[in-house]
Amino acid sequence: MWLSYRNSNSKDVKNKAEGEVVRLIGWIFTKREHPEKIFINMRDRYGYIQLVASKEMLKEKFKDVREANVESAIAVEGVVKYDKRAPGGVEIHLTDFKVVAPADIWPVTLSALKSPEFMFDKRHLTIRGPRSRAVLLIRSALIQSAFEYFTKNDYVMINAPTFITSAVEGGATLFELKYFGDKAYLTQSAQFYEEAAICVFEKVFVIQPSFRAEKSRTRKHLTEFWHIEAEVAFAEHNDIMRVEEELLSYIVSRLNELVGEEIKYIRGDLLKEFTPPFEKISYDEAIEILQKKGVEIEWGEDFGADEERALSEEFDEPFFVTGYPVEIRSFYHMPDPNRPEVTLSSDLMAPGGFGEITSGGQRIHDYNALLNKIKKMGLDPSEYEWYLEIRRYGMPPHSGFGMGVERVLRWLLDLPHIRDATLFPRTPSRLYP
Ligand code: 4AD
Ligand code: MG
Repeated sequence: MWLSYRNSNSKDVKNKAEGEVVRLIGWIFTKREHPEKIFINMRDRYGYIQLVASKEMLKEKFKDVREANVESAIAVEGVVKYDKRAPGGVEIHLTDFKVVAPADIWPVTLSALKSPEFMFDKRHLTIRGPRSRAVLLIRSALIQSAFEYFTKNDYVMINAPTFITSAVEGGATLFELKYFGDKAYLTQSAQFYEEAAICVFEKVFVIQPSFRAEKSRTRKHLTEFWHIEAEVAFAEHNDIMRVEEELLSYIVSRLNELVGEEIKYIRGDLLKEFTPPFEKISYDEAIEILQKKGVEIEWGEDFGADEERALSEEFDEPFFVTGYPVEIRSFYHMPDPNRPEVTLSSDLMAPGGFGEITSGGQRIHDYNALLNKIKKMGLDPSEYEWYLEIRRYGMPPHSGFGMGVERVLRWLLDLPHIRDATLFPRTPSRLYP
């Protein structure tokens, strides 16, 4: 009934002529009251529109407007009026007003806005605010753009399981759970399932949650995050870096088109667009840069948050760090045949102190080479039986990568914390709401 009642919306109103009658549904975002007139800033899926309620036009219904609390769901009818003083230059002078669902007094006060903990305890309500609204719309557009990029380039979308039996990215961050009589884990990455699927589809991608029992409380880690991953058969390390830089460039330019208004609301300006190829530096060069800056790090050590910050401060566009040492990468990474102490792998780093946004590289596709590597790293080959077995049946050289949705969104929008980039964040200290 209400959906068919609506014949316009906050955005579409601007296409209507002065004097046209429109019917809208939405929520009262703010209210400004005067004795004879009440101004409502109404919110719907498309944005905001000013409603003007006057005693003169609404008669006894004017009382209903006065009594309706903010966040009440409403259905209104009114006349389109262009007025320079109205936000957006147009407003609706109400001829009818109905409360579809009333609201209690809104608990999110101005002083509550200053407490992030309170705001996240009430996240089921605070997501209605203009800032979360904009961020979540941009997030939706980011995932849409990634989907577009992959489908335009002949990738097949697959869906991998969430319950799994062995680690992709090391045991330290595995969530363990009871699975009837057995032990299972929550997936850290769909990579292994993608590797199986490339022997059917050549190019596959997933967009789905990954889980990490990251105990460290950082502004860049969630325990549950959304992972954009792709895997390509017959592709070498350089080929996959090309995909990563194209994907990121595509996402950024599409976001400016799709949600430019929301991006400007959050950052003040549109996103800076990039053109591939991105700069590539070797891990060795990265170590040199860090050591020159006085950072205490030796060749062979992994980058922590401080090193990533110090390194990426030196760049103002995204860049790759390539050729990480074998010891600091997962077992599946292909060693460089010319220099077996390093891998054919890379991280894409966001500039300006941000750091890692993707990890990827070429995989070991040879059965015996992978078996030896698993043993050499002290892992149990029986845990990787099916993963090994796919290498006995025509597994070509292949490469892939993973990119965290919230990580990228936090960088692009310069958000203070990664939890701001997701609807209901999960961190070591937050499992509610
Ligand atoms: O670097 P990671 O751990 O790599 C993998 O999982 C590979 N198996 C991916 C692949 O090759 N298919 O994770 C990839 C990306 C990171 O660069 C980061 O953007 C994001 O996933 N990520 C996280 N985002 C939020 N919270 C966390 N705890 C994250 N851990 C990784
Ligand atoms: Mg990584």
